[in-house]
Amino acid sequence: MSGITTPASRVFSSDNTAGTSPEILEAMTRAAAGQALPYGADDTTASVRRRLGEIFERDVDVLLVSTGSAANALSLAALTPPWGSVLCHRDSHINNDECGAPEFYTAGAKLIPLGGDDAKIDPQELRAAARHKAGDVHSVEPSVVGITQATETGAVYTLDEIRTLGSITEEAGLRLHMDGARFAGAVAALGCTPADLTWRAGVDLLSFGATKNGTMTADAIVVFDRSRTAELAFRAKRAGQLASKMRFHAAQLDAYLTDDLWLRNAAHANAMAARLQEGLTAVPGVGLLGAADANIVFCRLPRQVVQGLLADGYAFYHDRWEPGVVRFVTSFATTPQDVDQLLEAVGRHADRPAPVGATPGP
Ligand SMILES: Cc1ncc(COP(=O)(O)O)c(C=O)c1O
Repeated sequence: MSGITTPASRVFSSDNTAGTSPEILEAMTRAAAGQALPYGADDTTASVRRRLGEIFERDVDVLLVSTGSAANALSLAALTPPWGSVLCHRDSHINNDECGAPEFYTAGAKLIPLGGDDAKIDPQELRAAARHKAGDVHSVEPSVVGITQATETGAVYTLDEIRTLGSITEEAGLRLHMDGARFAGAVAALGCTPADLTWRAGVDLLSFGATKNGTMTADAIVVFDRSRTAELAFRAKRAGQLASKMRFHAAQLDAYLTDDLWLRNAAHANAMAARLQEGLTAVPGVGLLGAADANIVFCRLPRQVVQGLLADGYAFYHDRWEPGVVRFVTSFATTPQDVDQLLEAVGRHADRPAPVGATPGP
């Protein structure tokens, strides 16, 4: 991203560049008045837990944290011993983007990266890895499976796919964690119940992301296996994730869960990505890559288009994965006009003749 001078309408680098929903800001202002009990003993934290219980159709425990990485690393630590392994996709955030926090918080469990299209774990690979050297003291013990919903490439596991991975996990006696940094996007895309997508399919702990979809600084761990709650509480405190003024995390999440704001925001972000994909398919030389069911679009753009967009001041990631591969991310704050202007710019640069000597975009 080129910096804070980039106009908001031209930022497609991530969904965490967006601000916060007005409802959430108003809730923060209300929470700032008066006094409230600290460390999660306040009424708003209790309300968040109640709301999540309703959404997931059962009693759940909830820990509010300030980052998705903390939610993931704490959850994994509560599901594996230090000599265990975490089976995850090779492109997963826990494997690539958390600076070894899962290994650190678990006191040394090993991440075993697996393959599969669209950053979804391939069931055959999981089946083999789940029993690999189980019980052999010379090897790490397969302990937990980590899946991301929606995935890092913007795909969404179908309900059947989650159920399949859930049953392989259960049959092998492992635990199941879901990184739901974009869980709302997955629910909005599939239209199925949060309960079906998680605990009914075998998910033990869910990192319930919210920061990418409207909150300011608050995510949550939703605990379905409540035998893990006490340990998680100690771990969260020890990790500096038990906020004294928890009411501010809670205020954000409470507003996020009120009147389906979380689903409305996610549906909007998904719709903006769909609009972008549809427009991109009409531009010659542009190729979409993989399934983009939620709010992340991967595509190949000719070199002159990438350079033209950068010169126009657009912010997005490119050439990080492979030369010519670009990622656009939409959010609750993206407008249809933002998307249409981006499409107009892509079309304009695609129409220009490629510079002499330039290699065509891959
Ligand atoms: C799939 C996924 N998981 C988790 C996270 C949480 O990251 P952070 O610790 O930056 O909130 C992200 C953010 O990019 C993500 O994309």
